[in-house]
Amino acid sequence: MAMVQAVTRQADSLAQFDYSPAAKRVLARKPALFINNEWVRSTHGATLVVEDPSTGKEVGRIVDASDADVDRAVAAARTAFDDGRWSNLPPNKRERIINKLADLIEAHAAEFAELEAIDVGKPVGFASVVDIPASVDHLRYMAGWASKLGGEVMDPQSLPRGTVFSYVAREPVGVAAQIVPWNFPLIMATLKISPALAAGCTLILKPAEQTSLTALRLADFVAEAGFPPGVINVVTGNGHTAGDRLVKHPDVDKIAFTGSTEVGKLINRNATGTLKRVTLELGGKSPVIVMPDANVEEAAPGAAGAIFFNSGQICIAGSRLFVHRSIFDRVIEGVAATTGFWKPRPSLDPQAHMGPLVSKEQKDKVMGYIAAGKRDGASIAIGGDAPAADGYYVNPTILVNVKANMSVVREEIFGPVVVAQRFDDLDEVAKAANDSCYGLAAGIWTKDLKTMHRLASKLKAGTVWGNCHAVIDPALPFGGYKQSGFGREQARQGIESYTELKSVIIQL
Ligand code: NAI
Ligand code: MG
Repeated sequence: MAMVQAVTRQADSLAQFDYSPAAKRVLARKPALFINNEWVRSTHGATLVVEDPSTGKEVGRIVDASDADVDRAVAAARTAFDDGRWSNLPPNKRERIINKLADLIEAHAAEFAELEAIDVGKPVGFASVVDIPASVDHLRYMAGWASKLGGEVMDPQSLPRGTVFSYVAREPVGVAAQIVPWNFPLIMATLKISPALAAGCTLILKPAEQTSLTALRLADFVAEAGFPPGVINVVTGNGHTAGDRLVKHPDVDKIAFTGSTEVGKLINRNATGTLKRVTLELGGKSPVIVMPDANVEEAAPGAAGAIFFNSGQICIAGSRLFVHRSIFDRVIEGVAATTGFWKPRPSLDPQAHMGPLVSKEQKDKVMGYIAAGKRDGASIAIGGDAPAADGYYVNPTILVNVKANMSVVREEIFGPVVVAQRFDDLDEVAKAANDSCYGLAAGIWTKDLKTMHRLASKLKAGTVWGNCHAVIDPALPFGGYKQSGFGREQARQGIESYTELKSVIIQL
């Protein structure tokens, strides 16, 4: 079959490749929610369309959860937390169960990668080598913390030694509601659930309405991995309804959100009514800075990958490129030279490096920014247009002659669009790079160690990369300065954000 297809398909056709039988089975399933380790029907008939962004066609349906559905999931998580069926398990048992879930994802890696490609439009090859292995890593890393997290003995400063015994215990925060976006659905899901589970929390995961397939498939393995009922619940639905219900629910103790800064602010406000613990991973407009001594052969493709990977739909996208005046033209030519590699292809093409954007809404938004940039006086060095197709493709785009006040420079575009600017010296570029309401990440390309460290210390960003981009590791804290977020995920700090501290003072 594959051979016939390879022979008959036009080399530059944007027609989607065939789905596997396993993927078709998942897409054909009746919409359901995962609550208490069971697949349950919604209390109402409302559904959401599952769309393949490579074709723009409906390929399935999921539940658009009602308030009653959300309440049911929260009640399941609440009961499962309060009776201690999960938090009172020996930590090494929790560790083994989380690791078992990782094993089951790994055993079905090809299917998960295909579902992610169909749902998001991301190239199946990247999903296989990035999304699925990273998801497994997040689970395994946090699984180990289950048995390492502990409290400490601390002596009061105002009482004689030996008159009291005091210690600080660390306890799970309770029921977590975890709301995730569509750009890396399985990574986001596992990144969120793994620290909660390791800390002993129970949870309700709400995937993005555009991309719920892998979260639902993950739920298939929850009982098999050994999680007691109610520990992991998956509820699909719209943000302003199901998401909002979770944020305001009095039985939810903590909200963890990744998504737009606008919705992050709204969630933070809405969670105040019940003073929930909140962590937010939000947008970015990350600078990539190429210093005059940088190796252009590495920096140019690095800068290209920083913005074109995942069609630019990544919070850490290097969307503002600052290049020293002396090498500006060479670097821009080097970035432009990669656009053949990043040419949009259907997500299931094994040769694809860039797929379509996730939705028509997102494509329209990105094309709107390109038009605004042109209106404001920016010039297009390359791209700026979209291939004629039903899928939501946008060509890799470089905008030059931009000014600091243009919307294309200030706002998160979330597409394969980079704005390139010249600079003359380090202090000037540090100031320009920090001239943003965001502070998620930054990249620096230089061979000079002194320059690297001086610039790294000046940049207001939660992560700084030197001579690389988008390297994310579960052992390093991840999060934003300024309006890019609140709190840190991953690492020890990530699991600690799912705990409360309790000081116990006992008079002897
Ligand atoms: P969004 O922030 O609206 O959606 C993210 C998640 O939040 C989804 O699960 C959604 O259902 C939920 N949500 C939405 N409104 C909610 C509410 N009132 N209460 C609770 N949950 C709610 O992002 P959207 O609309 O999909 O994309 C809009 C823009 O946001 C993108 O163009 C991009 O610029 C940015 N974005 C940034 C992401 C990042 O990782 N930094 C990820 C996704 C989007
Ligand atoms: Mg939205």
